[in-house]
Amino acid sequence: MAILRVAQMGHPVLRMICQPVAPTDIASPEFQGLCDDMLDTLFEYDGAGLAAPQVHVPLRVVVLTLDDERGPEFFVNPVITPLTDDTVWKWEGCLSVEGIRGKVERFSHVRIEASDRLGQPKAYELRGFPAVVVQHECDHLDGVLYIDKADRATLAFLSEYRKWGPLDELGELEDEEQEAEDEPQGLEDEDLEEVTS
Ligand code: NI
Repeated sequence: MAILRVAQMGHPVLRMICQPVAPTDIASPEFQGLCDDMLDTLFEYDGAGLAAPQVHVPLRVVVLTLDDERGPEFFVNPVITPLTDDTVWKWEGCLSVEGIRGKVERFSHVRIEASDRLGQPKAYELRGFPAVVVQHECDHLDGVLYIDKADRATLAFLSEYRKWGPLDELGELEDEEQEAEDEPQGLEDEDLEEVTS
């Protein structure tokens, strides 16, 4: 097992359309080793999720923590189907776009079908935060980064985001200018649910 280097934006592997994992490869030591290494890497970087291209392997595999109690789980050859036209805007970050946050629009309710790391099929319907994480991760498999979809006016370096709070709340900050001077704007609870994956 090993902690792998995370590819940063600009590396071509992050823009590739990843290949499906052949069912006959799932039990192989190479594939199981990749899964172990992705888990080690996810823990090391404390991300909500990680996609194989982020560790320089262009295969359709992601590992996600949908539920803290269940812990990280693998989705091999995942397929996402939106179950609504309704969308949510959430703050996202990405281990491959270090030090930046931005607000992204995602479907609020999706179904994901995939195999687990042993090749067993599984499917979930997800809403809210877990739905956002799977959409972010599965975009990686098609060479898409969250920053491609973010509202550009919200993009912020993490240092400034921590200092000033989310830019979409700046209007409120101006209204409460005196208060802002007295007390730096902290993060609201919902912002702590940002996706870094
Ligand atoms: Ni990411």
